[in-house]
Amino acid sequence: MALSAKDLRITTLDKDAGILNRIKNYLGEPYYENEFGLIYNIDCLIAMQSLPNELINQTFTSPPYNIGKEYEIVMPLKKYINWCKRWIDEVYRITKQHGSFWLNVGYLQISNKGKFVPITYFLWNISDFFLQQEIVWNYGAGVAAKQFLSPRNEKILWFLKDQDNYIFNLDDIRDKDVKYPAQKKKGKLRCNTIGKNPSDVWQIAKVTSGQNRSSSERVNHPAQTPRDLLDRVILAGSNKEDLILDPFLGSGSTFESAIANNRKFIGFEIRQDYCAIAKLRIKNFIEREKAKNAQLSLL
Ligand SMILES: C[S@@+](CC[C@H](N)C(=O)[O-])C[C@H]1O[C@@H](n2cnc3c(N)ncnc32)[C@H](O)[C@@H]1O
Repeated sequence: MALSAKDLRITTLDKDAGILNRIKNYLGEPYYENEFGLIYNIDCLIAMQSLPNELINQTFTSPPYNIGKEYEIVMPLKKYINWCKRWIDEVYRITKQHGSFWLNVGYLQISNKGKFVPITYFLWNISDFFLQQEIVWNYGAGVAAKQFLSPRNEKILWFLKDQDNYIFNLDDIRDKDVKYPAQKKKGKLRCNTIGKNPSDVWQIAKVTSGQNRSSSERVNHPAQTPRDLLDRVILAGSNKEDLILDPFLGSGSTFESAIANNRKFIGFEIRQDYCAIAKLRIKNFIEREKAKNAQLSLL
């Protein structure tokens, strides 16, 4: 899914930072900024409460799952759901009328009730968003198990504000891996020549860590979302120059994908050490892409 260097036009991206300057008027100076986007070291709820209605085209986020990760303080379930409702309501308010919200969540354990309870069961219907579809992200590798089936998927809920009028760029995410591309019916090709609909089950590798198995894209964050997944979400659900939000930025994966796909970006992250990781990652990414583009221009 990732775009080739040829597709990237970082040097020629729209330099008009109008929307980013507007955001700075509301939120003040960011932790980090470049011509493509802004990172704020802030609680996302406080940040979103300071933003006006209908500003964002698309939000992707993977929030804390309330499972005791190093960046979480575990809350009682009701409190967790209530907190999710509060920030999702803010995402709804600041989303444009034809915008969308893509929410990636996994499972949590509820004592005496369930071991791998999908978080989607609690969140799908707590806001005014319309649920367009649930996507199963099948990631191949994960926890080994003997007493239960090894969990190998998370979900992405694709929410809309307006169920009749929304962005969906199917041709930009078609799967080129078609089994019988030359198959014809009445002399006409049966398959779309660009590729097939990628369906609601996405097989995309997780970002792994550890000696000899660490993903090449990995940075030092315990829950990094893969670029391939983000590229698919952003290409499908927004257009060039649109403004993408990730309220739980982590290592900056959504920011990187937004730049690679010619979108603008705003991200919030409560931990300064993760903001530093995201900043370094984005700076390195831009340097790499500029170097690639410079090489291409010599060809
Ligand atoms: C699941 S991780 C996101 C990982 C990210 N998708 C990536 O690819 O790196 C959730 C992130 O949310 C941050 N976080 C937790 N509570 C927050 C809050 N109230 N506001 C902003 N960020 C928060 C955590 O520090 C953590 O980095």
